Amino acid sequence: MKGKKEQFSNRFAVIAAMAGSAIGLGNIWRFPYMVGENGGGAFVIVYLICSVFLALPCFFSEAILGRHSGTGIMGIVKSKFPEGKLNFLGVLCILSPVLILSFYSIVGGWSLEYLVKAIAGDFNSMSETESVRVFNDYSSSVWRPILTHFVFLTTTAVVVSLGVKKGIEKFNKIIMPVLFVLMVLIVVFSMSLPGAEAGLSYILKPDFSKIDADVICDALGQSFFSLSLGMGTILVYSTFMKKSESIIGSGVLTVVFDTAFAILAGLAIMPAVFSAGIGPSSGPGLVYETLPYIFSSMGTVSPTVGYLVPLLFFLAVLMAALTSEISMFEVIYEYLRYDRLYSKKKAILTVFLIGFLIGIPCSMSFGVLKGFTLWGLTLFDLADFTTSNFLMFIGSLLFCMIVGWKMKKEEVYMEITNNGEKKFAKLIFKPLYLWIRYVLPFGIIIIFLTNLFV
Ligand code: PFF
Repeated sequence: MKGKKEQFSNRFAVIAAMAGSAIGLGNIWRFPYMVGENGGGAFVIVYLICSVFLALPCFFSEAILGRHSGTGIMGIVKSKFPEGKLNFLGVLCILSPVLILSFYSIVGGWSLEYLVKAIAGDFNSMSETESVRVFNDYSSSVWRPILTHFVFLTTTAVVVSLGVKKGIEKFNKIIMPVLFVLMVLIVVFSMSLPGAEAGLSYILKPDFSKIDADVICDALGQSFFSLSLGMGTILVYSTFMKKSESIIGSGVLTVVFDTAFAILAGLAIMPAVFSAGIGPSSGPGLVYETLPYIFSSMGTVSPTVGYLVPLLFFLAVLMAALTSEISMFEVIYEYLRYDRLYSKKKAILTVFLIGFLIGIPCSMSFGVLKGFTLWGLTLFDLADFTTSNFLMFIGSLLFCMIVGWKMKKEEVYMEITNNGEKKFAKLIFKPLYLWIRYVLPFGIIIIFLTNLFV
């Protein structure tokens, strides 16, 4: 192994990095809409149950595996299955961060573009049609989104190249608290708008009649994506975790912060959407078409508010996307640097180039390649669909099977309880271990098959 691995300085650094990976576009543009459409508070309860019983044990598995082995995905697969028959699974697990890195960077680039627009005051008195046109013109053009993709990915590469302590840790420790403060400010503002109550009840009012098998599957998929599971990000970040840090505590806090941020995002967006009398939506349409229009109409109330709110909002989107992108970059970098033994420079450059090149056709699928589809999906949608519906679950299944069946029970115990020191972890160890070994794999297989066939 070339070079010695660094470690996160303390607990705050661990949580900031893990929450930084978890909190991203998924929280901002998918969660609020999913909640509103699928039963409000009732969906939040289902989401939390899914997080506690399936996502959290998967999180623990990744963290146990990462900290115990000190290596990334491929290193683990090679050491646990030395005959090499399962190396392809390791490759599949690297493929998902490669794909997400590439298409996520396109959307990260959009938020950069929109931040620049907000700084320039471009959202002043924009009509709804104009807002849609501006987004279509920009996202379907060839060069501009590729330029913002380039800048976004370069920033990510710079942070990763600074190393674990000076790059990833420092960046997340500054950005994450700022991100929460920004979101709270936008929530306060959004809730003060006339007619905001409709948005509030859209997010929070429980309607249990909406809960069915499909909704439960959606909630599960969202909780896995939102917690960045099955891609090796939590695994790789855990290799930087000191032996004295608590795995249980880190997992629980990451879920709490991730869910809290998703709800905050909902409370920031939906009251404003309802107040403007627009129907709620999700995805790019919500963030880059509907919201700029709503922000622009705020300018008629007060020009300062109309200027500041979009600026703060797109700054928040950009920060959230960057901290997630960094975690994916690190997984691939880790593989090249420590498994393939690339030099630091070569590894950073290779990850950058891979992400940049794969990102280009993804970006073009909003423009010149719009008509080019495979299995009915554009290249961007295909990358998103493959990772969120399949690769993510293959990774999670592999990680929990290795912890449950390939690691010694004693080793798992030592990791979870910090060598027998953590009282609560000791108390829950037995049921948790049995859960990871016998129940979790079936749970994941069932979701996987449901996604495949239903
Ligand atoms: N968790 C991020 C989000 O909710 O936007 C997305 C993500 C980051 C997925 C990192 C996977 C990953 F490895």
